[in-house]
Amino acid sequence: MRTQVGIVGAGPAGLLLAEILHRHGVESVVVERQSREHVLSRIRAGVLEPTTVDVLRENGLAGRLDREGHVHDGVRIVWAGREGFLIDIHRHCGKRFVAYGQTNLQEDLFAAADRRGAAIITEAADVRLEGTSMVWKNGRVDCDFIAGCDGFHGVSRSSIPAKGEYEKVYPFGWLGILSETPPLREIAYCHSPRGFALASQRSPMLSRYYIQVPLDTRIEDWPDERFWKEIKARFPREWADAIVTGPSIEKSIAPLRSYVAEPMSHGRLFLAGDAAHIVPPTGAKGLNLAVSDVYYLARELAEHYRTGSMALLDAYSETALRRVWAAVRVSWYLTTLLHRFPDASPFDQRAQEYELEYLESSERAQAALAEQYAGLPL
Ligand code: FAD
Ligand code: PHB
Repeated sequence: MRTQVGIVGAGPAGLLLAEILHRHGVESVVVERQSREHVLSRIRAGVLEPTTVDVLRENGLAGRLDREGHVHDGVRIVWAGREGFLIDIHRHCGKRFVAYGQTNLQEDLFAAADRRGAAIITEAADVRLEGTSMVWKNGRVDCDFIAGCDGFHGVSRSSIPAKGEYEKVYPFGWLGILSETPPLREIAYCHSPRGFALASQRSPMLSRYYIQVPLDTRIEDWPDERFWKEIKARFPREWADAIVTGPSIEKSIAPLRSYVAEPMSHGRLFLAGDAAHIVPPTGAKGLNLAVSDVYYLARELAEHYRTGSMALLDAYSETALRRVWAAVRVSWYLTTLLHRFPDASPFDQRAQEYELEYLESSERAQAALAEQYAGLPL
């Protein structure tokens, strides 16, 4: 088999790239290690930046998102029994963001791929790259270019020799649950002496909550009752009282990490999304960065097929990394601001509390954070 662009991975990055390329008349084949059911069962991100929504709309992929997504003006930060403050993205940036689950987006992308009869090969075992060919147990596709969209544990990144790697591993993870209960009105990030907590949502009858936990936490030790008791103990009283509890329908733990590989390309191989970088989820940036990488890469590949020029493609890594580092920085900042670090000294804790007080009291500090939470323009 032969194609123009070989795409490794059918996560949001890989499937979106295939869709945008198709709209530009560029053909691709997607090779995915897991089954479609497995890919669709992963519960992950839930907050889409305005820019992400624009990219999906421009490419005809926002029909359900526009009907079912919940539009928000901002997110709230609460701590130490206080009401906290709204990072008001609409007031400061004139934009709104949307709560819409990655699972739904993944369904929308598969549906679009099915409508055009796209080439997606799932359950491909032992995928590896040989130059610009994707090779797996029972198949091979020869390509002009490879897009490595295979996530943090994929194979593509290892084909980039002599790369710089920047990494920070945090001494905690997030325990998350999904529950068929009405969510709180706002998305709320909470700092408490017991650790960080987050109240988020997927739909009017689907809530997503997280709490900071030590890295050695076992899910078996966290029955639903214990989770609800703990999250209510972390939120200020009025917020805790408003949380509607119920049985969880999913529960998982994710460790927190920041990681960037530079450059994001080598010859005719280009990395996009988690294959090139990981951010802790505190800034809700992971999925949004995957979308912006793909936006640049698709535009540059399309330009190459139109003009024969490699100029834009050669600049891909530099272009994408500017936005990546902005998101990596704000994700690290929010993680540091809102979590309880087990090794923090009394000085560290006092400085952290003062930073929260400063944010609450300063319109300008809030405007700066709103700008970064909303995401840079493309
Ligand atoms: P992925 O979604 O990881 O997709 C990569 C695809 O490649 C997968 O389908 C994988 O099966 C496939 N693949 C891997 N290896 C191979 C191979 N060798 N051959 C073929 N295919 C392969 N972000 C947020 O903003 N908020 C969150 O709450 C949040 N929670 C998360 C929880 C978890 C457990 C994880 C792992 C991530 C979370 N993220 C979150 C990050 C966000 O989900 C990712 O940034 C986003 O999924 C990136 O999309 P992607 O397409 O680059 O990678
Ligand atoms: C989510 O809804 O899953 C979510 C929201 C905000 C975050 C991270 C995750 O920062």
